[in-house]
Amino acid sequence: MKTPMTMAVLLACSLVANLAAAANAGLTEDQMGLSKADVAADSEPAPFEYRQADPYSGGVLPRAYLGAPPQVPHSLDGLTPITRDSNACLSCHQQPDKVGKKKVKGEPTPLPKSHYTDVRRNALYMGRYNCTQCHTPQADVKNLVGNTFKGK
Ligand code: HEC
Ligand code: HEC
Repeated sequence: MKTPMTMAVLLACSLVANLAAAANAGLTEDQMGLSKADVAADSEPAPFEYRQADPYSGGVLPRAYLGAPPQVPHSLDGLTPITRDSNACLSCHQQPDKVGKKKVKGEPTPLPKSHYTDVRRNALYMGRYNCTQCHTPQADVKNLVGNTFKGK
């Protein structure tokens, strides 16, 4: 037979279970991303293409702010993936003898001193071997979220 005491304990337990269930309902789909829409609402997002410019005539892009890694202005087709032992970027950009010299438009910007452990011995700093971790190709797309940040 249930005593008033057991009844009270049972009641308390079911109350806790109900509260836990409410908490588990979690976020709804449109609360999960930066955009205030269901993540599945746009089932076919507009395709976009990275800038296909030729390295030698495409010029460079503006820097986001002082000290920011420059954006890759040219096509990366055939240049990735980058591995520790195979890195196509270096064939053009690794030019230790040009570090500190005046840059020439239309010629590969030489890797800066910061990307070597020793420029004179042409010793790359391998903490930076994965170029596209910091230097990203660009595409013409609308911002997902408005931004008024101004560098420089
Ligand atoms: C065939 C030679 C070549 C290869 C390979 C190459 N680049 Fe370039 N890169 C260039 C040239 C040329 C420029 C343009 C320089 C200019 O006009 O001032 C350039 C510009 C850049 C810039 C802009 C520099 C600046 O001053 O704003 C970045 C960043 C860059 N490349 C990164 C890369 C990365 C990362 C890779 C490998 C995935 C790569 N490049 C492979 C030739 C090359
Ligand atoms: C950890 C981030 C990081 C990685 C990885 C990295 N870079 Fe950079 N890179 C930067 C930053 C930040 C700058 C600008 C400041 C500076 O000179 O160090 C820069 C500058 C440059 C410049 C412009 C130099 C100039 O004089 O204007 C070139 C070209 C470049 N990097 C190419 C590369 C290539 C090619 C690789 C791969 C071998 C690479 N970077 C890897 C962060 C990175």
